[in-house]
Amino acid sequence: MTYKGVNQILYGGDYNPEQWAEEVWLEDMQIMKQAHIKIVTLNVFSWAALQPDEDTYCFERLDRIMNLLRENGFLVCMATSTGAHPAWMAKRHPDILRTDGNGRKRKFGGRHNSCPNSPTYRLYASRLAKRLAKRYKGYSNIVAWHVSNEYGGTCYCENCEKAFREWLKRKYKTLEEMNRCFFTDFWGHTFYDWDEVVLPNLLSEHFIGENGEERTMFQGISLDYMRFISDSMLECFQIEYRAIREEMPDIPITTNLTGADKNLDSQKWAKQMDFVSWDSYPRPSDSAAETAMSHDIMRGLKGQMPFVLMEQTPSVTNWQPYNKLKRPKEMRLLSYQAAAHGADAIQFFQIRRGKGACEKFHGAVIDHAGRTDTRVFQEVTQLGQELELLNGAFLESKTPSQAAILFDWDNWWAVEYSAGPSILIRYLDVVKAYYTALFEDNILVDFIGAEDELENYKIVIAPLLYMVKTGLEEKIEHFTENGGCFITGYFSGIVDEHDLVLEGGYPGTLKEVLGIWVQEQDALPKGEKNAFYYKEEKYPAEILCDLILLGGADSVSTYTEDFYQGISVITRNFYGNGTAWYVGTSSSKEFYREFLSDRCREAGISPCFVTPSGVEAAIRKGKNGSFLFLLNHTEQEQEVVLDRTYRDLLFGEVYKGGERVLIEKKDVWILMEVR
Ligand code: GLA
Ligand code: ZN
Repeated sequence: MTYKGVNQILYGGDYNPEQWAEEVWLEDMQIMKQAHIKIVTLNVFSWAALQPDEDTYCFERLDRIMNLLRENGFLVCMATSTGAHPAWMAKRHPDILRTDGNGRKRKFGGRHNSCPNSPTYRLYASRLAKRLAKRYKGYSNIVAWHVSNEYGGTCYCENCEKAFREWLKRKYKTLEEMNRCFFTDFWGHTFYDWDEVVLPNLLSEHFIGENGEERTMFQGISLDYMRFISDSMLECFQIEYRAIREEMPDIPITTNLTGADKNLDSQKWAKQMDFVSWDSYPRPSDSAAETAMSHDIMRGLKGQMPFVLMEQTPSVTNWQPYNKLKRPKEMRLLSYQAAAHGADAIQFFQIRRGKGACEKFHGAVIDHAGRTDTRVFQEVTQLGQELELLNGAFLESKTPSQAAILFDWDNWWAVEYSAGPSILIRYLDVVKAYYTALFEDNILVDFIGAEDELENYKIVIAPLLYMVKTGLEEKIEHFTENGGCFITGYFSGIVDEHDLVLEGGYPGTLKEVLGIWVQEQDALPKGEKNAFYYKEEKYPAEILCDLILLGGADSVSTYTEDFYQGISVITRNFYGNGTAWYVGTSSSKEFYREFLSDRCREAGISPCFVTPSGVEAAIRKGKNGSFLFLLNHTEQEQEVVLDRTYRDLLFGEVYKGGERVLIEKKDVWILMEVR
């Protein structure tokens, strides 16, 4: 369940009437109706207006807006406005300002600018949330609360430093344990008092590497800082959450995430959110797979529960170096792609384009001309009509995936803080390589966390499983023993959750299930390659080459070059009723495609539908039936052959199995299985 009591696919967007005169609001009501908009996200950045000083709160304008929206039948996702603090607050309470990684205290400006450990921020943010909830709890058109906006960033101020020490005390209990986990015997960094701990940044343990990347000398403390700062912001969310909850006991509360954002342990966050919502801004150069992957990661945060696409641009962004327009039909295609991967509501940033400041050229449903005969408005309206027609068909339905990718924030941080073996090892790149191969074969994928169950899947892929958290190896063994196919690869099984090496040879606690050990790892500079054969084909080995020795597994392929020619690069271990695979290097797109399609075939996972290249297929299944989404991402019309009888939900036509149908370029078909 996303929005409360809703039985349709909600459509709408961020509405900022505070930027306009009241006559414009009246006009907006009509225009929004014309576009079939049903919901607005309101009050995202109004803190200064709602609270002009320490003791005064002014809700009158918001009352008028709320009344107007209610009279006009619009639903509201109510934001708390705490994503940017007022200027007076920064002046009177400088503790609210953030400090950057170089120790420079910021002045007032920007947004997402409050120190998450500032007592001022926490006090005033929860007070505002509470007052808002109290004032508007009688409005039954509020279907959710939207706390703050796009949490993120870091702070290194003194309050954060103090809070960090407390966080560490709670975690480690004793200094001995903390010293052990941080491995402070190295360079004699032993702490004899909690107060000796300082935040890891460019003034302490961090430095800028040869390629401009920020690096650390002590992974343990840097990793804990990432956990701490994500937790600190989560506490801010929870403080507001509780304030709203006290007033409105049964309204869902969310915050808008930004996709796979490295700064927030979103799996941990999602547990505290009533539903996941997120803002999708693919760059024109992003592949369909990349966008789909973000949706799937977001869906995975809360047990594969549908989510809200809180923001997307109807046409264009302003913050990229080159803000290319979404081409005709592209917005519709991306909207349905979100729906195909689990979105139950489709919303825009923003309804009306602002007149000033940095987002004045950001796309909006109503642009500066204020007209409804624009291309964008017409496309928005068409989609609104269609969503109305769909009448909630696939709402709350699920993706029936049999393959999963293990995704873990701690692991992501740890991999990329690692000093060696190579700065080319990037977590998302490797995840993307595996995901893309499955995506291009129309294999449905779930993203799961280290705490989730593996048993529901036939294949579990754990790319770059560098950090193996306690107990995870047992889950993997159990899964494989019971017939699962487990796949991992280079730079896996290296450390525990403290970034301390799992002794006894790599891949640490995964040696048993994988039946191998890795003696050395060769990090090849950019452009250098080794090679290997998989079946008849030769593929490149790049970035990292693991020199694998067999300990029960079979060698499936060996390197063809260099001193480790003949040494294993891919292995397979029969373990119980299942198989555990190890791919000891990074290779080409073609390799992953071939490799994974073999594993899927063996595991009995078939594409959810067979399409020509560039046509995406995805399925959602729920109480109303099974829905097949066909999305033609190409610039040409494409033919597909239907595998059974379907009804086209947008045009009503029924098609029989075996029929050939043509999907226009950039078009989408939503087909419901007829039984
Ligand atoms: C984010 C924010 C919005 C807006 C858009 C612009 O997603 O949440 O307030 O700034 O970006 O793309
Ligand atoms: Zn701070």
